[in-house]
Amino acid sequence: MKEVTLRPSSAPLRGQLHVPGDKSISHRAVILGALAKGTTNITNFLNGEDCLRTVEAFKQFGVSIEHERNSLKIDSHGPGYFTEPKEPLYFGNSGTTARLMLGVLAGLPLFTSVYGDNSLTKRPMDRVVAPLKQMGAQFDGRSKGSFLPMAIRGGDIKSIDYTLPVKSAQVKSAVLLAGLLSEGVTTVTEKTTSRNHSENMLQAFGADIVSENQQIRITNQQSLNGIDVYVPGDISSAAFFMTAAAIVPGSRLTLTNIGLNGSRTGIIEVLQEMGAAVEITNKQTTGGEAFGDVIISSQKLKGVIIEGDIIPRLIDEIPIIALAATQAEGETIIRDASELKFKETDRIRAVVDGLTRLGASVKSTEDGMVINGGSVLTGGRVAAYNDHRIAMMHAIASLITKQNVIIDDISSIAISYPDFFEHLNSITDKG
Ligand code: S3P
Repeated sequence: MKEVTLRPSSAPLRGQLHVPGDKSISHRAVILGALAKGTTNITNFLNGEDCLRTVEAFKQFGVSIEHERNSLKIDSHGPGYFTEPKEPLYFGNSGTTARLMLGVLAGLPLFTSVYGDNSLTKRPMDRVVAPLKQMGAQFDGRSKGSFLPMAIRGGDIKSIDYTLPVKSAQVKSAVLLAGLLSEGVTTVTEKTTSRNHSENMLQAFGADIVSENQQIRITNQQSLNGIDVYVPGDISSAAFFMTAAAIVPGSRLTLTNIGLNGSRTGIIEVLQEMGAAVEITNKQTTGGEAFGDVIISSQKLKGVIIEGDIIPRLIDEIPIIALAATQAEGETIIRDASELKFKETDRIRAVVDGLTRLGASVKSTEDGMVINGGSVLTGGRVAAYNDHRIAMMHAIASLITKQNVIIDDISSIAISYPDFFEHLNSITDKG
């Protein structure tokens, strides 16, 4: 437990930040680099605990991975040369490692057993196990293979045509990765577009993959070749500082090289709709991924309704959007977001509990929450629920509270943003 007491600071935020590399893209770069033959060099890799779980898993298959700060060099002969791990694979707190790796393990002719921490052990895995079993892989685990720990005997799997029953990029990616390693052509259809980093990166590594009208088709191919990958900054990490600049009067921040993939930019659209001034410059593309600089300044905010197809495009940003909504004029309603209950913690409960303790007026609903704006946040003691995004949301809240914010445990922040507090201090008067 690492408790922290944050003093209020109402000074405007000024300056420039280079937030760490995107978590989703970093995981995928390691996975495809390990599955590809030859050398893959990854730069601006997120050196966070979740991505390191994916790195460690491939080391246990005998893949050579050299890691120095934010650079990774992977040398692989491809999956045909993977050795059967002697020990269980540990996925820690990482849902993305677990779901995507189960897709890979389904396609490998090996026996593996996998486990996670207390939070991951409670998160549903049946959403990926069901389609992977249909493809012919064998799984066994707690509650008939619905939860970790789990044992997998993969290989010799068949392609499927699968329509996603949940709006989840992790499930989509697991089936696509298994499809890459299975006989024939696999198609995945999604009703609502979720993040498409797997599709972009599979294409960049030379896979035969076509995406059209929310249907993705991938053909079996064992011969990906290593490439160089630059990981853009994580918009989900940038979201904390975008919101900070939007709610602290007189602020203006520049966030450089931020991933701007359209399947992730819901946060920018919502902040703009709320009234924040957002400017995007230096837009570029790498490996199918757009990125650029985001400049954001504070303005008077108003409440909005957030629902429907935008939800998967901002699902991880809902905790920090809820904080912004406490400072807006009028009511903000968030609907269609029941997936929040299956994240690192039940984020509907964690957000409503935390913001209420700080003095906001927030109510939970079955699939989201209703936030009454215009609150003066007093401060107080809050729980991070061992969830990095809840901990960072509370730290940003301390910029506008009247009194101290005491967070019970900030150790989870190392999952996605190890330098978070150095960055926060560099743009406040504490810097
Ligand atoms: C992720 C997808 C999302 C997101 C998670 C990362 C990914 O989860 O919440 O942080 O990298 O594919 P779901 O696919 O379960 O919605």
